[in-house]
Amino acid sequence: MKLYLCDATATEALAEDVAASLPGDVGGWTVLLNGELGAGKSTFARAFIRALGHEGAVPSPTYTLVEPYSLKRGQVYHVDLYRIAAEEELHYLGWSDLDDGLRLIEWAERAPGLSDSADLALTLRYDGEGRRAEIAAVSARAADIVAGLSANPNT
Ligand SMILES: Nc1ncnc2c1ncn2[C@@H]1O[C@H](COP(=O)(O)OP(=O)(O)O)[C@@H](O)[C@H]1O
Ligand SMILES: [Mg+2]
Repeated sequence: MKLYLCDATATEALAEDVAASLPGDVGGWTVLLNGELGAGKSTFARAFIRALGHEGAVPSPTYTLVEPYSLKRGQVYHVDLYRIAAEEELHYLGWSDLDDGLRLIEWAERAPGLSDSADLALTLRYDGEGRRAEIAAVSARAADIVAGLSANPNT
């Protein structure tokens, strides 16, 4: 599914739509965010985490790598792989400890192996003043979600 996001508010609205279309308990889902610097990954992530029920700041995990949130809809891990040099580093960072929650991963393309276990992949690209977004269902269970988003385009 492809759509044009004319401004940051549209990116936030898409994040809210994706959050609303996930199951009530988001544990075990993986959402990949791809796109170059400034494409809108963090804008999406902040709106997504707030839409899942977090109130307050959503600090960048660039240095901490993982920011955890305990929310009503489950545990959420906001991950940023910008500083990852090699995919193997993930093992040393306690990657398997994140299995119980939803993993929202910025710079997911730095760890290509993640797409094997991902559900949704969002790619953001510069296009004029706005951004072009492409949402792909990676897992079978995500296909319904993408179909639902395509059927009800709010953005
Ligand atoms: N659809 C959009 N159109 C125009 N600007 C956007 C859009 N989405 C986000 N932005 C803006 O792009 C800038 C960079 O966004 P950010 O989320 O920090 O990118 P990233 O995390 O990918 O580096 C911010 O100023 C944000 O408001
Ligand atoms: Mg960012």
